[in-house]
Amino acid sequence: MPGPSQATDRHRAESPGRRRGRSAAEYGAYCNAGQVRCATERVIVVDAVHDVFGERALDAAKTVRLDDPKDANMGPLASSSMSSLWHPFASMGAVAGNEFVVDRGEGVWVYDTDGNRYLDATASLWYCQVGHGRAAIVDAIATQARRLDAYHTFGDFSNPPIAELAARIARYSPNPASAVFFTSGGSDSVDTAAKMARRYFQLTGEPERTVLITRDWAYHGMHGFGTSLAGIPGNADGYGDLFPDVIKVPFDSTDALVTAIEKLGSARIAGLFCEPVIGAGGVRPAPDGYLKHARKIIEDAGALFIADEVITGFCRTGDWFASNRFSLEPDLITFAKGVTSGYLPMGGVIAAPRVADPFFASGGPMFRHGYTYSGHPTVAAAALANLDILEGEGLAQRALQLEAVLVEGLETLTDHPLVGGHRSGVGFLGAVVLAPDALGADPDLPAKASQAVRRAGLISRAIGGDALQVSPPLSITDAEFDQLLALMRTGLDQVRVTGNG
Ligand SMILES: Cc1ncc(COP(=O)(O)O)c(C=O)c1O
Repeated sequence: MPGPSQATDRHRAESPGRRRGRSAAEYGAYCNAGQVRCATERVIVVDAVHDVFGERALDAAKTVRLDDPKDANMGPLASSSMSSLWHPFASMGAVAGNEFVVDRGEGVWVYDTDGNRYLDATASLWYCQVGHGRAAIVDAIATQARRLDAYHTFGDFSNPPIAELAARIARYSPNPASAVFFTSGGSDSVDTAAKMARRYFQLTGEPERTVLITRDWAYHGMHGFGTSLAGIPGNADGYGDLFPDVIKVPFDSTDALVTAIEKLGSARIAGLFCEPVIGAGGVRPAPDGYLKHARKIIEDAGALFIADEVITGFCRTGDWFASNRFSLEPDLITFAKGVTSGYLPMGGVIAAPRVADPFFASGGPMFRHGYTYSGHPTVAAAALANLDILEGEGLAQRALQLEAVLVEGLETLTDHPLVGGHRSGVGFLGAVVLAPDALGADPDLPAKASQAVRRAGLISRAIGGDALQVSPPLSITDAEFDQLLALMRTGLDQVRVTGNG
């Protein structure tokens, strides 16, 4: 939370011209922001409001009744109170004061602070497999937090829920003899896997194997290694030199993979990071046969196949992991998101015996790596309750059914003038691809389209430069999926390609 002088400075930075240009709506929003903040930070906001709008706004802010519950629930305008929040992946100049404030969720639906309801076609950020508002997960969290809220797992420390969770995840993975290393999210998991891979080869007498291969359109999170492995254009820009010994290959060509390995010499390769279905890069399933073939190429090179299953894991692709479905037997699997359906943050790395064994050997070295919240018991309790739902409701099988429903449903949208096609076919994740001519005419089309469908009552997201994400909770009903398609169409109908959308 900034101190008073910072808050004031931020508002002072606006030019007088901008201040004069404010609309009545912005002015109202600003007063509204002032009211919300008054409840907690009266001095700061009164100063800031006064600075920008003068005596009139100051008088308005002073009229707030702090004991009136309505003041705390003022609908979308209340979003203006959140300009202290620096959003991830956001142009804050446009977002500050215009936030979309999500207030509550139930099943596949979320509600804004005005009570408007939206179908969550992205399962938030691909993670809410079981839908929102599951009492069983909430209860498990409360029960565990009362018993042991949190404790670390460094050194020899453990706790019952995390031990149970590790065993269960290993059992679900392609190799039940695997070991599971816990983290706080996907980016942590990618960095952990990258370090594990390089450290493994140091330990096993091949320290020159440091090169990590990534693919065009890949998203492996935004930590140091993840940024270095970025395949989405722009995601690695602006940070100076990143990790050396990273090479990038096309996402869909095993020939290109072979060529890259031959060029460098296979003895230099530590591993290939591979999303079984590229997610954030626009939903790009690998071509038929690619995954098995790439896995074999990496094996033949003596390197590690690292499946990044942060999106594809935990039933999204019709099995516990896409690696099970496609018999990939990765050396390392990164996971996050669906392990808890997002109720609390968690990630991890599943290390097959090949990688884990040297670290587990008697007299083996310490892996000097880990996070404060690795193995958090309350998060583990949430994960266990979530796995019970995934298993009990057969959501892997359901995802497989929904895979066909999705392909068919997205196909029906292709008669819309703004839709050029779709990417789907592996699991319950897809992308509505916008028509190339419309995109050419209006490069802002993906962002405009996602705003328009939201106005229609559907939360989607621009991904891959040309598409809208469709990856709802696996708990969605057939009727809700039909609603999703209808809302998408209604939203797209509202988009004006060359106007203001
Ligand atoms: C494949 C993949 N890896 C890693 C990450 C990073 O996960 P997080 O945002 O939890 O750090 C993501 C996030 O979307 C992802 O899709």
